[in-house]
Amino acid sequence: MKTLIAPSILAADFGNLQRDVEMINKSKADWFHIDIMDGVFVPNISFGMPVLKSISNHATKPLDIHLMIVDPDRYIKNFVELKAAVITVHYEACKNLKNTLRTIRSNNVKTGVAINPETSINVIEELLDEIDLVCIMSVNPGFGGQIFIENTYNKVKELNEVIKFKKHSTLIEIDGGVTNTNAVKLIKLGADVLVAGSFVFKSENPLNTIRDLKQV
Ligand code: DX5
Ligand code: ZN
Repeated sequence: MKTLIAPSILAADFGNLQRDVEMINKSKADWFHIDIMDGVFVPNISFGMPVLKSISNHATKPLDIHLMIVDPDRYIKNFVELKAAVITVHYEACKNLKNTLRTIRSNNVKTGVAINPETSINVIEELLDEIDLVCIMSVNPGFGGQIFIENTYNKVKELNEVIKFKKHSTLIEIDGGVTNTNAVKLIKLGADVLVAGSFVFKSENPLNTIRDLKQV
């Protein structure tokens, strides 16, 4: 499978949100990556339902929703209504991860579990049957534009080996500090989805940057 590219809306120009959403529609990107931060699970607040609703109204590609919020169960219905294709919750934020994943799946939405840089792969291994996507955080969640953490490579390799060995179909997504340089090694080690915020939106020509990432 060709690697999927998911530009992160967090790095878009919110004053020109429709323009940036349409740029992604027109680009070679596969998904929209949407970061929801609550100021509690992470020390930052991004945006909430009204903004997401506008994105959802204009987007013509699947919405990959990354919830950096405590007790995500409270809002799953809302995200389903706003046409989420994937809902990713944080391992560290869930009281009963299995239940949360079942709720997401029962709404015909793909399940994602994100793990922080200090969280090891082992914690989700037994649940891989219930997980469509594991999001390996390659920065500490909360902010765009941070430096990629090198230990991510080991985690991708380890998770990819487990997925292959146990014959799961879980996708591996990498989120944070992704560039066309680290993308090469990440893909080689088994990454399936690359999230890129600053690298896309702060580049001179985001359409070309997305096209180039897609060709790595
Ligand atoms: C960080 C977010 C990321 C972020 C990525 O907490 O989950 O999705 O937007 O942005 P860059 O690519 O700039 O690191
Ligand atoms: Zn994210």
